Amino acid sequence: MTKVLVATEKPFAEAAVNQIKSTFEKAGYDCRFFEKYESQDDLKKAVADADALIIRSDKITEEIMDAAPELKIVVRAGAGFDNVDLAAATAHNIVVMNTPGQNSNAVAELVLGMMVFQARNHFNGKPGTELKGKKLGIHAYGHVGKNVARIAKGFGMEVFAFDPFVDKADIEADSVSVFDNVEEMYSVCDYVSLHIPANKHTIKSINYTLLSKMKEGATLINTARKEVIDEEGLLKMFNKRNDFRYIADIAPGNREDIEKEFGDRCFFTPKKMGAQTAEANVNAGIAASNQIIAFLEKGDTTFKVN
Ligand code: 3PG
Repeated sequence: MTKVLVATEKPFAEAAVNQIKSTFEKAGYDCRFFEKYESQDDLKKAVADADALIIRSDKITEEIMDAAPELKIVVRAGAGFDNVDLAAATAHNIVVMNTPGQNSNAVAELVLGMMVFQARNHFNGKPGTELKGKKLGIHAYGHVGKNVARIAKGFGMEVFAFDPFVDKADIEADSVSVFDNVEEMYSVCDYVSLHIPANKHTIKSINYTLLSKMKEGATLINTARKEVIDEEGLLKMFNKRNDFRYIADIAPGNREDIEKEFGDRCFFTPKKMGAQTAEANVNAGIAASNQIIAFLEKGDTTFKVN
């Protein structure tokens, strides 16, 4: 019997767990859940007999693959796959996939929610500001960026984007204005929302040089990855510019220092929660399950990333 392991340090919502179970039951697969585990050693033991793996931000290293001799496919139920060693997967003949777009509305709703929270002074009762009429710059126009644009327009924001990898015409079709120069976008927008993946080109790319271009009173929102921020540059920006605000779903390593010094100009969620909705978990979990079945039954490699 084909064995699927759902290894989620941050578990899916109950509705998603039930639907994943019944999808695999119908296919005649054995599906086990390994949730809230505490160490890579525990994960290593759990993957020993797995043919297929569903994960979230769980780290899948070469060591984990070595401990999983039967493993044929890993599906990251979500967008970013920087937590999987792709080269090692290829060397182990393991297919890696993601489920693009399935959790993007959840992340986009959190972006706007956090923006309102910051604009209203963390709901402390003092007069804040409105989003209507403000300029929002979307840094990378993928599935999340597109949803952010849609929702921001509902707030009456003016929406801009920078993404050299997406056709300008496709972005403009959403009535979003395109910047060809990232620094220019940072310099005119009241809010900049990051949606870039973490890879060798983007890690620490949001540095002081770029941040210092931000408009007076601007807010940077990060629901993408902690690694894309140059944390020394971020600290410098907070120190040099007392009008700058930073809100993130993935707190920087120097979280305590920043919160202590600049509490009202920053906000960090306690745990990454952009994709933590029942709907996103169901969408991504079901997509991952179906992709595993389609791959193992028919060799379908749509969404393969390695
Ligand atoms: C993603 O890349 O899909 C998001 O960052 C969500 O990650 P999560 O599944 O760990 O919440």
